[in-house]
Parts: sequence; C-alpha cells; structure tokens
Amino acid sequence: VCLLCLFFFSKQKLFLLLMIFFLFSLFPGEPIIAAPGDDVILQILLDSQEDLQEQIVEWIKLDMKLFVFLYWRRKIITEHMSESFIPRVSLDQDGLKRGDVTLKIRNVSLQDEGKYSCFIPGKNFRETVQLVVGEFALQVELYSESLFNP
Ligand SMILES: *[C@@H]1O[C@H](CO)[C@@H](O)[C@H](O)[C@H]1NC(C)=O
Repeated sequence: VCLLCLFFFSKQKLFLLLMIFFLFSLFPGEPIIAAPGDDVILQILLDSQEDLQEQIVEWIKLDMKLFVFLYWRRKIITEHMSESFIPRVSLDQDGLKRGDVTLKIRNVSLQDEGKYSCFIPGKNFRETVQLVVGEFALQVELYSESLFNP
C-alpha cells in the first residue's frame, strides 16, 4: 500500500515539474513573474543607447486595443492609453536619452498578465516581454520570507 502511495506522490511531483517546464516553454525568453500588488519593471534597452526623445515609443499589450503607454515626441498621449494603466505606468524620461524604454507598472493584477511589446517605428524596433502574474508567486514570496525571517 505504501509503495502505491509513493508512486502516486512521485507522479504528482512529476506532473508539477512537467507543468513548470510547460509554462516556461510557452514563454521563450525569461518571463517576468509577479504576484498581484507587485510593481514590475519591463526592461528594454536599445543597444545603440541613442537619444529617443524625438521618437514615437509605443508600449502595447497584445490582447488590448488601447496603448499601455504612448510617447509621441516629448509628450505622453494618455488619450490613447488604457485607463487601467494610466495611473500605474511610467517611463523614465532621462532613460529615453540613453535608449532606455523600460516601462514600470505599479500594483499589477491577474488581468495584467500577458505579452507586452515595445515598438519604436522610427527605428524599426520591436521587442516583446512576457509578464506572468499569479498567486503562486505570492506563495513563493511568503515561503522564502518565512525561510529568511523565521
Ligand atoms: C491595487 O490594485 C487593486 C485592484 O487591482 C486595488 O484594489 C488596490 O487599491 C490597489 N492598491 C494600490 C496601492 O493602489
């Protein structure tokens, strides 16, 4: 009977491992993993480190019609940005001078999960970042907190 238990246990563990591998294979490149309420940084830097202040910089989420962030030659165009993101997103203007289009999103929720792309039409540039938001991340955080602060 106990051997059977052991078999079931290891099968569950194997399943969990397979699930994790499956999740990671879905998102090539390293996904950003966050728990609800976290602040996240979607880091993208242009190798050229050139000044982008006169450019158009678009951050989109692939399943959304409105922009997550829209920068149009020194101005942030909130009229075309998703309302849920307007108070939560920021892009460092000083960074733009150095080709840094890293986007910060505060207080993420489960609905924020997805693929985010940054476009710079004038530079023919496009890059995508995957954001994963889940309660499991919270559990891992709590677990590691309890490990380090017993
Ligand atoms: C974070 O977002 C949730 C909804 O997703 C909201 O209820 C909460 O008040 C927000 N917290 C802060 C600090 O803005």
